[in-house]
Amino acid sequence: MYFSNKIVLITGASSGIGKALALELARQQAKLILVARRAEVLAEVQAECLQYTQHCQLLCFDLKNSELIPAKAAEALTLFGGLDVLINNAGVSQRSLVTETAAEVDRDIMEINFFSTVYMTKALLPHFVKQGHGHIIVMSSMAGLMGFPMRSAYSAAKHALHGFFETFQTEQPVKDLHTLIVCPGRINTPISLSALTGSGEKHGKMDDGQKNGIPADKCAQIILRAAEKKKKLIKIAKEEKILLAIKRVLPNLFYKIAHNAGMKQ
Ligand SMILES: NC(=O)c1ccc[n+]([C@@H]2O[C@H](COP(=O)([O-])OP(=O)(O)OC[C@H]3O[C@@H](n4cnc5c(N)ncnc54)[C@H](OP(=O)(O)O)[C@@H]3O)[C@@H](O)[C@H]2O)c1
Repeated sequence: MYFSNKIVLITGASSGIGKALALELARQQAKLILVARRAEVLAEVQAECLQYTQHCQLLCFDLKNSELIPAKAAEALTLFGGLDVLINNAGVSQRSLVTETAAEVDRDIMEINFFSTVYMTKALLPHFVKQGHGHIIVMSSMAGLMGFPMRSAYSAAKHALHGFFETFQTEQPVKDLHTLIVCPGRINTPISLSALTGSGEKHGKMDDGQKNGIPADKCAQIILRAAEKKKKLIKIAKEEKILLAIKRVLPNLFYKIAHNAGMKQ
């Protein structure tokens, strides 16, 4: 098994795709470091993981607290004596129009979805460079490849990840340091519950798109297989792939379809 004995840090491991990745990696006997804010929920994920792997440690903190990141990254490196894979997965979605979203909410969404990923990566890069190998997985979205109603800051943050990490892939500081950018469409997770509204409140609803989305465990398995194959970018989506193709070929039609689909939510 490819991830057997590899030391893997997953941000946003208390729920959804991050939790599914943790469980799949535990089954492959990886050594896990799980990051999220909710200590009790994360401890439940840890208990599930420990049914499969003997090694699972927790780091509970708020990734928006960027000044904590260097110390937490340094602590992560001591837990099992190194790191092989960093999975930057934590994120928060959005459910509000541009016209109704407070600027602080835009900044908040950028902070968790973009800056925390950049800061975690930079805090751990010296380790990867010195070690001469490693793997960084970055969770973008199909909204990182096209805009969609009610996702302005979220889509902007995900687009920003592409600019940053595609550049990083071209720089390739170490031959054996691989970076995978993941673009899921709708996945069946509780992400819409914690999505932010224009005033920064939680949306609090399980949207149909999420309910009928691709199962999180299937998404996790596809991500790990792509990492194993050293892919640089993958899309895990259904209709969203068709919409992206329409955007490329018939852009005017794309705006109409996205408007009609997105404004109904
Ligand atoms: N589900 C989808 O349809 C979908 C589609 C495209 C992309 N994605 C991306 O996939 C990733 C995972 O999403 P998901 O669907 O699994 O969502 P989820 O079930 O809501 O999980 C989000 C995770 O992020 C953590 N998190 C959020 N804010 C945090 C913070 N400030 N500090 C530390 N941890 C934080 C949450 O933990 P705590 O609340 O315990 O901190 C939770 O573990 C996200 O980057 C998302 O944008 C999801």
